[in-house]
Amino acid sequence: MISKSKIILQIIVIASVALSIFLYYQLSIRGFLDDWCSCKCEMDSEANLWQSERYNRSTHVFMNSKNGVLDFETFDWWTSLQGASTVANFTDLVEDLFSHFPDKDHYSDSSSSRCRSCAVVGNSGNLIGSHYGALIDSNDFIIRMNQGPTAGFERDVGSITTHRLIYPESAVDMDNNTHLVMVPFKILDLQWLISIFTTKHIDQTYMYVKPSLKADKNKVLILHPAFIKYIYESWLQRQGRYPSTGFISVVFALHICDEVNVFGFGATRDNAWHHYFDNFAINFNGGPHPGEYERNIITELHQKKIIMMYKGW
Ligand SMILES: *[C@@H]1O[C@H](CO)[C@@H](O)[C@H](O)[C@H]1NC(C)=O
Ligand SMILES: *[C@@H]1O[C@H](CO)[C@@H](O)[C@H](O)[C@H]1NC(C)=O
Ligand SMILES: *[C@@H]1O[C@H](CO)[C@@H](O)[C@H](O)[C@H]1NC(C)=O
Repeated sequence: MISKSKIILQIIVIASVALSIFLYYQLSIRGFLDDWCSCKCEMDSEANLWQSERYNRSTHVFMNSKNGVLDFETFDWWTSLQGASTVANFTDLVEDLFSHFPDKDHYSDSSSSRCRSCAVVGNSGNLIGSHYGALIDSNDFIIRMNQGPTAGFERDVGSITTHRLIYPESAVDMDNNTHLVMVPFKILDLQWLISIFTTKHIDQTYMYVKPSLKADKNKVLILHPAFIKYIYESWLQRQGRYPSTGFISVVFALHICDEVNVFGFGATRDNAWHHYFDNFAINFNGGPHPGEYERNIITELHQKKIIMMYKGW
C-alpha cells in the first residue's frame, strides 16, 4: 500500500527534475551557461598580452620520430643540464625509441569546440584535509608527478591518474590506465626508458634507479627536449638552470588542455613546505630550479584567470 505522502514526494521529485531540465535548456539557449566560463574564458587584453609573450602554440610538446632529431642549439643546451655521461648516436636512439613507443602527433586536436579539463596535482602538504579528491577526479585528465601517491590519500588527492610525469630517479610503478610521461633531462634517461621495458640493464644514473617499471608501454609519451628549453627560456626567462617537474607539468597542461585546475602547489596554511605523503621539508633555496620565480609565474597565471589554483584551505 503506497501512502499519500510517498505519492506527493514522488510528484515533487518529478516536478523538480522537469524544472531543472527546463531551466538547463533555457539557460543554454540564452548562453548563460557559457558565461559560467568553465572552459575557454575570455581573458582580458592585459592577460592576453602577458600570455602571448610566453606561450608558443607551435612548440613541440612531445618527441616523435619526425621531430626527434634535435637542432644543434637544443642538443647542446639539453646535454649540458645533467652531463652527457653516456655517448650515444642520438639519431639511432630516436629511431630505437619509436620502434618501442607510440610514434604520433599526440593531442594535436586543439579546436574551439574542444573543452578538455585537466587537474594538475602537485605534491604539497596543503592537500592534507582539503577533501579535493572528488573534484580532482572529475577532470578529463589528471596529471600527477614523480612519487605523488593516491593510495591512502584518495579523499584529498583523488584516485585517478591519467598522466604521470617522471624521470628515472623519481619513477614509480603505475597502472595501465596511466600515461607514463617521460621528462628527459639527459640522453641516459631515454636509454633507461627503453631498458625498463626490454633488457632492464640500466640501474644507475647519478644514483640507483629502478631497472624495471610497471607501466603500459603503449601509453608512453616523451616530452620533447625543446619543450623543456622553451619553458626555461620563454616562461622562466632563463632563471635558475632548468624548470622543476611541477612547473613543467603546469605548462604541459596549458598546451594539451583547455581548462587547467591546479592542486597541491605552494605552502601549507602554516607556511610549511613538505609533501602530503611524507614529512620531509622541501628546500627551495638553491638547487637547479628557480623556485620563487616559478611560484610567482603560477600566481600570475591564477590572477590572470589563465589557470585556477586551489590552495587547500
Ligand atoms: C614557436 O615555436 C616554433 C617551433 O619550435 C618556432 O619555430 C618559433 O620560432 C617559435 N616562436 C616564437 C615566437 O618563439
Ligand atoms: C648516427 O647514425 C646514423 C645512421 O645510423 C649515421 O648516418 C650518422 O652518421 C651517425 N652519427 C654519428 C655522429 O655517428
Ligand atoms: C592492466 O593491468 C592489470 C593488472 O594490473 C592486468 O591484469 C591487465 O592485463 C592489464 N591490461 C592490459 C590491457 O595490459
